[in-house]
This record gives sequence, C-alpha cells and structure tokens, in this order.
Amino acid sequence: MSPIKKIAILTSGGDAPGMNAAIRAAVRGAIFNKLEVMGSIRGYQGLIDNNLVPMDSQSVSNIIQQGGTILKSARSKQFLTPEGRQIAYDNLKKNKIDALVVIGGDGTFTGARVFSGEHNIPIVGIPGTIDNDLYGTDYTIGYDTALNTVVEAVDKIRDTASAHSRLFFIEVMGRDAGFLALSSAIASGAETVLVPEINTGYKKLDDFLKNSFKKQKSSSIVLVAEGDKLSGGAIKIAERVNKEHPDYDARVTILGHIQRGGSPSGMDRVMASRMGVSAIEALLDDQKSVMIGMVNGEIVYVPFNQALKNKKPLPPKQLELIDILSI
Ligand code: F6P
Repeated sequence: MSPIKKIAILTSGGDAPGMNAAIRAAVRGAIFNKLEVMGSIRGYQGLIDNNLVPMDSQSVSNIIQQGGTILKSARSKQFLTPEGRQIAYDNLKKNKIDALVVIGGDGTFTGARVFSGEHNIPIVGIPGTIDNDLYGTDYTIGYDTALNTVVEAVDKIRDTASAHSRLFFIEVMGRDAGFLALSSAIASGAETVLVPEINTGYKKLDDFLKNSFKKQKSSSIVLVAEGDKLSGGAIKIAERVNKEHPDYDARVTILGHIQRGGSPSGMDRVMASRMGVSAIEALLDDQKSVMIGMVNGEIVYVPFNQALKNKKPLPPKQLELIDILSI
C-alpha cells in the first residue's frame, strides 16, 4: 500500500498547449486511484501563498481542448530561496499533501529536484514545453501544437514572400533550443534555419544568401530560433543583411507568443493524457524524483538529475535534411 493519500498538482514556467489535458489526466488518474487532489494556483508560488484549491473530477471537465492552464503558471523567484521552499513545504504539511505532480520544463524540474531533496517529498514531473528540449524524452507536451502553429504562419508568409520574391527572416521561440525551429523549417520548406545549438557563423549565412537567394528563387524563408547565437534575433540579422545587400529588401516576422496558445493538437492531447495518468502511477510505484518521458512511444521514468544534467542533442540527420531539401 502506498503511503500517498493526497497530492497537489501545479503548472510552472512557460505554459504550453496540452497542459490542461495533462492536469485533467493527473486529476482523474489520482481520483481513480482513490487519492485526494489539490491544485496549486500559479505554480510553486501557489504553494508559498497557500493558494491551493481542492480538485474533483468535475473541476477538470471540458478543459482537454483548452490552451493555457486552468491552474495558471508563474516563474516564482521566492521558490528559488531555501526560505521560500520552507514556507512551501510547511503549507504542504498543513494541507496534508504527501506528494506533488509538477508540469513544466527544465526550470520547473530544477525546482522540483531541489525541493524533493531538501524536504524528502516525492515529486513526479510531466514535460510540458513547446521547446521539446528535455533530455530523456522524445516528446514534450505542447510541441506538436506549436509546430503546427508555426507551419500555418510560415505558409501564409510564404504566399506574400513569393508574390514579392522576398527574403524573410522568421523568428520562432526557443531561447536555448532549436527543436521547434528545426522541425518547423523542415515542415514549412524553409531554405535554412539558425539555431542556438550551432554557431554557424556569418559565412554560412552569406553563402546561403549567395547560392540560394541569388539563384532567383521565388522566395526565401530563413527560420531563426530566438536564442540563435549568430544573430541575436531575426531583427538584428535582417538589419545586417539589408545593410550589406540593400537589394535583398529582407523582411522580418516574429511569431512570438501565438506559438504558446491555441487548442492543443490531437497528438498533444493523447500525450498529455498518457503522461498525466502515468505520473500518478509513478507516485504509487514509489518514484520520488523523476520526470515522465516518452521514448519510442513508451512511457519511461527519467530521474530529474539525468533529465537536467544532459543536453538533448538536435538530431544531426534533420539538420542535414534542410540542406538536402533546399537545393
Ligand atoms: O520555454 C518556453 C518558452 O516559450 C521559450 O521558447 C521562450 O524562449 C520562453 O519560454 C519565453 O518566455 P516568456 O513567456 O517568459 O517570455
């Protein structure tokens, strides 16, 4: 028999489409297993503020299709301090909460690892971020929806780019990771992609401009991850290109936070549902400090230490693909 009788669920960091589907699955998975559930409002900050609400099956009705997170999210500064975490722990005890399910990205799991180590509280994480940058899982919730949002937007920009034979730099999210930029580039037929993981240097970009744009393509689309080292963002890079090649008349679109919103795709809903129930099963299976991962379609448990210590590599074959497909 598991000693866990009551859990709390929270979402933290950048929200991602499908977080609500994960909350729903975790709440219902818990109730199915006869656990009591509370929701912490605004992530870890809710634990510190004792802003916890009871959740039942009905409280998660009609949310599987909604973007955002009904529990709200935050990046709590107070939780970064031992004093803040002590208050959070005291509130957990006051509410008789034995374990936590946290939904978010690397910042969320860094907090979870420290908290669980300090106060010996079991925590299971569900990867929810449009960045898809967590080591140990092929997939993070929200990535598929964000990918579809980017592709739809780039398709539209392609129409006007073609009409004017223009070069566009389109900036997509990804402060530290280029997975979204890379997949979007493949799916939208972009001519090239700039990602934070690889410092390509201006020469590569210049070569591309000479070899591709100069070949009188009807349009050229370069996807730029916001954290790209070369450019420091699409605006700067377009300014530089326009200065050196005024005849290119390059334009910029920054897709921004539309990438984080919207109704989750079917794929995100399925992933979130599987991962949400698995998080409860992991807690009942005595897991204490792990992230739920998805590898080759199967659920795995990834210790927070491992997920955080290692950097998930960008698939080199997919980078090659861009070069092959844009000849
Ligand atoms: O981690 C998710 C993410 O959307 C990143 O891709 C992006 O760099 C960052 O969050 C933006 O954060 P904020 O919403 O705080 O500006």
